[in-house]
Amino acid sequence: MADVPASIPQTAIEPEFGPAAERPGSAAADRAAGPADSGPRPDLALPPVRRVRPTDAARVRAIRLEMLADSPLAFLETLADAAARPHAEFAARVAGMSTGTRTAAFVAEVDGRVVGHAGGQAAHGQPGVSVVFAVYLSPDWRGSGLLAALVDAVAAWSRAAGRPELMLEVVVGNDRAVRAYERLGFVDTGVRVTHPTVPILRELQMARRA
Ligand SMILES: CC(C)(COP(=O)(O)OP(=O)(O)OC[C@H]1O[C@@H](n2cnc3c(N)ncnc32)[C@H](O)[C@@H]1OP(=O)(O)O)[C@@H](O)C(=O)NCCC(=O)NCCS
Repeated sequence: MADVPASIPQTAIEPEFGPAAERPGSAAADRAAGPADSGPRPDLALPPVRRVRPTDAARVRAIRLEMLADSPLAFLETLADAAARPHAEFAARVAGMSTGTRTAAFVAEVDGRVVGHAGGQAAHGQPGVSVVFAVYLSPDWRGSGLLAALVDAVAAWSRAAGRPELMLEVVVGNDRAVRAYERLGFVDTGVRVTHPTVPILRELQMARRA
């Protein structure tokens, strides 16, 4: 599976981020107006998080292309490959993630645009474990607390599916993601693996209860 191979979780590496977009009223603008490192702002009105629906195919495709453009080393697929995939393939994948207990995707939508995404998938050969994959927030929504809501949604789905553990892998160097996950209770398991598509990179594994 180009998006998330059944046996390999989505990975991430910390890219060189430019300044976060700061449209008025955005989380980033709010952050900029507050203390320099104010972190997540519980007072921000977060968009609701929900499971994807089959009708989300175009929106999910858009956020998929955005995440690959924004963070090219963070995910297993290249932007070119994703852009070349037929829409029908995206649509089928989104439909598959909209129901069932093996794989799911959760999104937050603002004005018809998906601004946050997180997937969950039953871990291959590890009963009771869900892999968290394709975690991405549009720049405006970073630092807003939306990540916690997305991970909560994956966790609730995992528990309901009878999998009480969450696992994810992050490319070594993606410190922002590692810190964000630590704040959500994930701990480094000590496991290190070679990145499946860029062998020069290593990934660290993190886990927590769902
Ligand atoms: C990784 C990601 C999901 C984390 O979400 P987040 O909302 O940024 O997480 P946090 O709010 O916990 O912030 C993480 C760090 O970034 C900082 N930060 C938050 N918003 C920021 C902004 N607008 N500009 C600069 N830094 C910001 C936080 O202060 C925090 O830094 P600290 O650890 O030094 O305190 C998100 O940054 C993202 O989508 N990144 C690109 C894709 C990616 O790497 N995905 C991970 C896949 S494993």
